[in-house]
Amino acid sequence: MSLTTVSGSGSAPLLSIQRVSRRYGPVIALDDVSLDIARGEFFALLGPSGCGKTTLMRCVAGFETPDSGELLLDGEDLAGMPPYRRPVNMMFQSYALFPHLDVFENVAFGLRRQGLNKETIAGRVRALLQLTQLDSYGSRKINELSGGQRQRVALARALAPGPRLLLLDEPLGALDRKLREETQFHLKKIQRETGTSFMIVTHDQDEALALADRVAVMRAGRIEQVASPNDIYERPASRFVAGFVGDTNFIDGVVVFDSAPYLLTDFGRIALSTCCLPDGRRATLSVRPEDIHARHDGPGISGIVEEFVFRGDNTLLRVRVGNDVILRVATWDMRFSVGESVMLQFPLDTPALFAEEI
Ligand SMILES: Nc1ncnc2c1ncn2[C@@H]1O[C@H](COP(=O)(O)OP(=O)(O)O)[C@@H](O)[C@H]1O
Ligand SMILES: [Mg+2]
Repeated sequence: MSLTTVSGSGSAPLLSIQRVSRRYGPVIALDDVSLDIARGEFFALLGPSGCGKTTLMRCVAGFETPDSGELLLDGEDLAGMPPYRRPVNMMFQSYALFPHLDVFENVAFGLRRQGLNKETIAGRVRALLQLTQLDSYGSRKINELSGGQRQRVALARALAPGPRLLLLDEPLGALDRKLREETQFHLKKIQRETGTSFMIVTHDQDEALALADRVAVMRAGRIEQVASPNDIYERPASRFVAGFVGDTNFIDGVVVFDSAPYLLTDFGRIALSTCCLPDGRRATLSVRPEDIHARHDGPGISGIVEEFVFRGDNTLLRVRVGNDVILRVATWDMRFSVGESVMLQFPLDTPALFAEEI
């Protein structure tokens, strides 16, 4: 039996979120959010706790009603449609499994409600248990399972009715670190094999970047950027995104146009590859630790190694430049020592330049 979701044709988005807002008293949980999710896409909503991720997901599932805006699924307006009629399913952060039912019955639950015959249900549950590597666990009770196995039962149960869109709220939140990575690969594989669109909510940037085809970064009810993981990391659209996703140095200065633009900082000039800010504008450049190259000599901006930390695959240097700026520089060169002077080379490409917020 095929588990592939039947989807419509064409390149129209599967889900279109249009100018959705939702308040709770004085709190604006969603502030004019617009977003399209494509068919077969693995999409991640990333943002700090309280930024509105769960609220947005609950609006899509139908557990919450937006104050304004529209939600269209395959072009159909979801307004007024109860959750159980939406071709959407949600996997809750708590998994919400039925403890008194075994694994098989947990997965079969939604199918029984659809009134399918016994053989169809059994075939489909078996296929789902195989997909989630739970083949031999059908008759186990939920309290006899590990955290990772429960997570897979919840996933199988959520996939059972064949939703066109699966919403997963912090699906790996309850798992320990090692298991999370393994489960990430597993989730990706299942998403690919079923062809179902996944919309996952997470506050963990590594998880969003690892899993998703595209990521939306949210802040205080608004979307700051929607892009591929690579673009989110390499070309953050705002200072907030640059700071939230990955490790970075924020370098303050003033934009100067000479023959070419550069950022005039307290410790020297950093050439700017592109600059759409005017001459004289105060700005902040975000540079990742791994994009600054530390050398023992040669050209660049000089600094003094204040401290270093061995991190396994590289070493993180804290380098003082000028009077009181500390830059974090990742290097594979192990021969640096505290107090040594180093030359820093900045990247040629500097896309993450942000005007000072006035
Ligand atoms: N039912 C509710 N009643 C009142 N405030 C709520 C309710 N649900 C969410 N909020 C508030 O809306 C904001 C967004 O919450 P939520 O969507 O749960 O954020 P996230 O999932 O990103 O952590 C928070 O300030 C939260 O306190
Ligand atoms: Mg949440």
